[in-house]
Amino acid sequence: MYSINFKFEEKDKNAKLIENCPIDDSILEIAIKNNIHLHHNCGGVSACSTCHIYLEKGENFVEELSDKEEDFIDRARNPKLTSRLSCQCVLLEGSGVIEVTIPDQSLIHGE
Ligand code: FES
Repeated sequence: MYSINFKFEEKDKNAKLIENCPIDDSILEIAIKNNIHLHHNCGGVSACSTCHIYLEKGENFVEELSDKEEDFIDRARNPKLTSRLSCQCVLLEGSGVIEVTIPDQSLIHGE
């Protein structure tokens, strides 16, 4: 089981710690289940860049970055070295603390 600390670029949103996150769920799925607003226009199949996040801590706890994911990250707004697509960050066997920053969702069009 993992704990994920979600932080937000939007200044008026407080960080939210979600505990007991199960393996095999993606960070996107965990966000949705916990009412954390995160766009996901393609439905989580690595075919857009709207679920873009910054994975600040815990990169070894999720599946590795694929070439396809990297291509879409290049199209995201303000990509950084920590950028990932949250739908592709599936939690691996293990446990630990993950830290994520969610980009300002008001600047992203979509669902
Ligand atoms: S929801 Fe489209 S790439 Fe993640």
